[in-house]
Amino acid sequence: MHGKPNIVLVGFMGTGKSSVARALARSEALTFTDMDDVLVARAGKPIPRIFTEDGEPHFRALERHLVRELAAQAGRVIATGGGIVLNPANIADYSATGLVVCLTATVDTILARVGRDTNRPLLAAPDKRARILELLAARQPLYDAIPCQVATDGRTVAEVAARIRALYHACPADGSPPASSPPHAAGC
Ligand code: S3P
Repeated sequence: MHGKPNIVLVGFMGTGKSSVARALARSEALTFTDMDDVLVARAGKPIPRIFTEDGEPHFRALERHLVRELAAQAGRVIATGGGIVLNPANIADYSATGLVVCLTATVDTILARVGRDTNRPLLAAPDKRARILELLAARQPLYDAIPCQVATDGRTVAEVAARIRALYHACPADGSPPASSPPHAAGC
C-alpha cells in the first residue's frame, strides 16, 4: 500500500462519523468515503430498502466486501456504518492499513441527533431510547475494544476532527495507534 494511511471512523449511529470524516478529509487533503453512501449507490436503493428487501445479512456481506476493498487503498477518511464492529475481521482489516478511531456519545446525544431520522432501519421502533440501549448493550464491548476513543458529546465537528488529527499525526506510518499511549488515555 502506498500513500497516507487511512483514517477510519467507527462508532454507534449518531456519533458524528460522516460529518467528522468530511471535515477531516478536507483539512488533511484526503479522500472522503462514506461506506453507506457507496453501498446505497451500488445497490441502487436506500438502506431501509436493502434491509427489508434483501435482509440485514445481505447488507453485512456488502459491507464486508467494501471493507476489504477500501482497506487495500490509502489516503482516505472512511465513515463506516455503526454495525461495522459486528464482524471483527472488518476492524482487523482497517487496523492493518489505517488509524481506526471510535467516536462515542451518550444515549441522550444519540437520541437528539438521530431520534427523528427515518433512514436507519435498526432504529425503527416505537421506543427509540430503549432500542438504542438494546443495540448498545450488545455492541458496547466491540466499540470499547478499539484503542482510540474520542468522545463527541458537547463538541463541535471541528473540535472532534482536531483531536483525531492530533492522533493521526502522532501515529507511525502504518497508521497504528502510538505505542506509548495506553488504550483510552488522552483519547487513544
Ligand atoms: C447501522 C448503521 C447505519 C447503517 C445501517 C446499519 C448499524 O450507519 O450502516 O443502517 O447497524 O448501526 P450510521 O452509523 O452511519 O447511521
